[in-house]
Amino acid sequence: MKVLVLNGPNLGRLGRRQPEIYGSTTYAQLASKCIEWGRALGLQVDVQQTNHEGEMLDWLNSAADSATPVVLNAAAWTHYSYAIFDACAQLTAPLVEVHISDPMQRPEEFRRASVVTPYAVKVIAGHGIDGYRMALEVIAAR
Ligand code: DQA
Repeated sequence: MKVLVLNGPNLGRLGRRQPEIYGSTTYAQLASKCIEWGRALGLQVDVQQTNHEGEMLDWLNSAADSATPVVLNAAAWTHYSYAIFDACAQLTAPLVEVHISDPMQRPEEFRRASVVTPYAVKVIAGHGIDGYRMALEVIAAR
């Protein structure tokens, strides 16, 4: 089974970006771990990151067209993008929402809202990059 792991803005700087919040694992290391974790679960994982919302929408639209399961960390778009909300609404295969930190425990009020959660079969937050492994396990079990 194919799975898309899609990452939104600023996640390309993982490892260098606020390591006290997001940890020291780089984006490249995260991507290869996701591929390995997926392989162990019998999943063919394609990992992508973009800072451009239109590109993310294109990936979500093609996941909708191909009924491909998605693990999504929409990063800051999670909290305000109605275009991401509308794209998630079109998905038919399972969608798992992932966050490295736990937005609910962070001081900024804007992080409490998520446009992804209404369409997610599961939300995994606050488990660091291990959350991606947990998300792939959820997809593999369905
Ligand atoms: C994040 C949490 C979001 O609030 C934030 O905007 C991010 C990363 C996370 O993985 O913890 O960019 O999605």
